[in-house]
Amino acid sequence: MKANRIVLLTGGAGYIGSHLAVRLIESNYDVIILDSFVNSNERSIGNIAAITGTLPILVNGDIRNRSIVDRIFSEYDVSAVVHLAGLKSVSESVSDPLSYYENNVIGGINLVTAMKQAGVFRLLFSSSATIYGPNASSPVSEQYEPCQPVNPYGRSKLFLEEIYSDICASDPRWSVGVLRYFNPVGAHKSALIGEDPSGIPNNLFPFVSAVVNGNLPKLNVFGDDYDTPDGTGVRDYIHVMDLADGHLRALNWIEKRTGYDVWNLGTGTGVSVLEIIRVFERITSVEVPFQVVERRAGDIATCYADVDKSFRELGWKAQRTLFDMIEDTWRWQQKNPNGFRGL
Ligand code: NAD
Ligand code: UFG
Repeated sequence: MKANRIVLLTGGAGYIGSHLAVRLIESNYDVIILDSFVNSNERSIGNIAAITGTLPILVNGDIRNRSIVDRIFSEYDVSAVVHLAGLKSVSESVSDPLSYYENNVIGGINLVTAMKQAGVFRLLFSSSATIYGPNASSPVSEQYEPCQPVNPYGRSKLFLEEIYSDICASDPRWSVGVLRYFNPVGAHKSALIGEDPSGIPNNLFPFVSAVVNGNLPKLNVFGDDYDTPDGTGVRDYIHVMDLADGHLRALNWIEKRTGYDVWNLGTGTGVSVLEIIRVFERITSVEVPFQVVERRAGDIATCYADVDKSFRELGWKAQRTLFDMIEDTWRWQQKNPNGFRGL
């Protein structure tokens, strides 16, 4: 019998990683999760098992800890690494940039150094649309230059992209796929895993869900004077399960080829803040109280993906609608008003 391929998922206990773990297990990969739980809860691991019937191997540790990473590669015949571990708060990265460079950049270098030593050369890396910066006009394609992220979080992603591109240029054994996510939202249909921000959410979807749920009194809409159809910010929201499917396609690509590739993972459609509020209200039958306030520093008017390259090369296209995204977010929020802490 053919053995399953083993994938190491750094950050696999987190929001995107847990959904990807489900899809990998369903696609007959053996999954090892390496996570320090700095921004996640161990209950997600049990719930991955509840959904799939398979408990992933869990290593509780930090990607910066070389001996832990080396041990994984010596104990398991890892076929590819999907690298999601990282800190992701834009505002925190501005107030504490060194933590972001330390965790994301040094951690990301540590990982590939260990991979090279172990002879593992396949890597998918979670990057972000934020690297394109404020001057990119949408739909933005992977070829857009110059990428100019405006905060340390975004720069930590761009630095790693460049480092990974350099290692591919230096050694033909590497096969690296960079995935630039747009705005991942939604949750698994089971409502057993979902986004679980600690404290008051920064992002629109978890914030609106908390308002609908009565946990927060009202939404602040950050500006209605942008050059967009209704004046509010336009983004490319993508269902986290579609995002996970995009990873499977990209994994398939790097299993067959070497070199360095970049793909946008978005839907290709921009949606405004007011449209999101309206669809939330329609699905939940709850009015979302909101007030328009000043623009949020660092925000741009519009950002959505050119998805031509991901479709052409990976044969991947997001399938789920905005309705699905909000319905699944709402189901997760209703069943878990306090996230994993309430379980
Ligand atoms: P998340 O915080 O839910 O998951 C990240 C996981 O990495 C967490 O479980 C955390 O505990 C772990 N982690 C962080 N530093 C670690 C370290 N040094 N060692 C081991 N584990 C560590 O975030 P997410 O939304 O699932 O994002 C996953 C990846 O996708 C991140 O790299 C993020 O920057 C990137 N990304 C996310 C978004 C988004 O909007 N969610 C958008 C673009 C890119
Ligand atoms: N918004 C509000 N009120 C809120 C929160 C957000 O009006 O309380 C607006 C924002 O101004 C923006 C839109 O809703 O117009 C989306 O904001 P999010 O914070 O949900 O998402 P961003 O596009 O700002 O950023 C997200 C992640 C980044 C990532 C980026 C691109 O937070 O880490 O997507 O992938 F880099």
